[in-house]
Amino acid sequence: MHLLLGIDVGTSGCKVALFDPLGTLHATATYDYPLVQPQNGWAEQDPRLWWDATVAGITDVLHQMGDARDTAAHIAGIGVTGQMHGLVMLDAAGRVIRDAILWCDGRTVDECAEITRRVGAQQLIDITANPALPGFTAGKILWVRAHEPENYARCRHILMPKDYIRYKLTDVIAAEATDASGTNLFDVACREWSDQVLGALDIDAVLMPAVLESPDVAGEVTRAAAEATGLRVGTPVAAGAGDNAAAAVGLGIVHPGRAFTSIGSSGVIYAHSDKVRIDAAGRVHTFCAAVPHTWTVMSCTLAAGLSLRWYRDTFCADEIAAAAECGIDVYDLLNEEIARIPRGADRLLFLPYLMGERSPLLDSYARGTFFGLSCVHGKYHLLRAVMEGVSYSLRQCLDVLRDMSVVCHDMLACGGGGRSRLWRQMLADIYDLPVIRPRVDEGPAFGAALLGGVGAGVYADVREACALAIRDDGVSCTPDAAAHGAYEPYYRLFVQLYPQLREQFAELAQL
Ligand code: XUL
Repeated sequence: MHLLLGIDVGTSGCKVALFDPLGTLHATATYDYPLVQPQNGWAEQDPRLWWDATVAGITDVLHQMGDARDTAAHIAGIGVTGQMHGLVMLDAAGRVIRDAILWCDGRTVDECAEITRRVGAQQLIDITANPALPGFTAGKILWVRAHEPENYARCRHILMPKDYIRYKLTDVIAAEATDASGTNLFDVACREWSDQVLGALDIDAVLMPAVLESPDVAGEVTRAAAEATGLRVGTPVAAGAGDNAAAAVGLGIVHPGRAFTSIGSSGVIYAHSDKVRIDAAGRVHTFCAAVPHTWTVMSCTLAAGLSLRWYRDTFCADEIAAAAECGIDVYDLLNEEIARIPRGADRLLFLPYLMGERSPLLDSYARGTFFGLSCVHGKYHLLRAVMEGVSYSLRQCLDVLRDMSVVCHDMLACGGGGRSRLWRQMLADIYDLPVIRPRVDEGPAFGAALLGGVGAGVYADVREACALAIRDDGVSCTPDAAAHGAYEPYYRLFVQLYPQLREQFAELAQL
């Protein structure tokens, strides 16, 4: 029997998962690493920790199967995926120069203004399909050049997070179209680096690796990687995709009219498109999809699961201890408490802008806000408000897609948040759409494994992989009309709050 391995370099940890070609999950392991925040609004990680977690995850998964060597021999293909936009800089010897600057880092407001000035606002959208955004990679490159010239001078290769892991597995330096789309340096319609943008920003094109399509084989597992992980030397490794594009494959969102919501650290609404569609205001992103010659429109709420994790880690030490004692997931315990609080959290709203906000506000200076606090509120009111605030932010992004006439009749849900029935029902009620939990909810890791399968020739192409491996038998939450009506006034208020605070957020950032 063939097996397919998916590796997902996430923000909170690296997940490794092993599937067969019919989509059955055989083993999975996740190894966590910390998010480093050297300053308010900054976010970094050491890529070497990603590799350590990848090695631990692969070793773990192979051993879970019993005979690790025999399992490795049956792995036909490997696919990689991971957090998008992170800047990984390597020197001439392939060594990491500095910690990666991540997708949720907001330090590059000035650099983004410089990019817009140098390239021209309209030109930038025409070529890269997106405005200059602090989360994207180009601003980070300019920041390193301005603030750490010695690091920039040593840089020979610029990679995205999962490209670094693929490099460690294969010794081949490569980029691929979905992740390259999130750099502000890529011609999204033509699916190649833009010489025009690179020239305008004075970035040497040799720093940018050759671009592959997601299912292309980038290289094979080297002897050194095999010795570190237990994998078989020569196992093909596909180029893979950014986490959202890979999740789309793992959920079968590979045709127009299909969409998903992911609540991982970020919150994403992703709709497949067979043509390039651009929001002129840049409120949502246009990227290449993992199906060659197709695209996506997607939004990104920066602190979705991240908001909940922040609340858990800051205020819920007792619940963490109680859950550990009972051997249950702390989020299950917290969900029980949230369910006891009424919709609207007794007139409390939360703006989830802990890391600034991307979609649809495009404001790195925005910050988290509780609105309407009263003495009646306890800690679980605040928690419910956090979950609702993230859901309203996702709805606001869905409304942008609706404005663009991107139609979807239901929504798949994935990521840690998608596993919570309470959260799925909340989304169904706030979106007024059925929200479906897929049968296999390993999201990006599953999609990466399927891309590995296409690369290895197990499937003819990505759509065939989805047709063979994904069964549409997920559990659906249908919207409740009364609940939708109850959330609507809160949602309207939520949308009105940020414009009232925009200037004050900017002022706060200067203090
Ligand atoms: C998408 C984005 C996030 C990251 C983190 O544009 O920034 O979804 O990929 O997972």
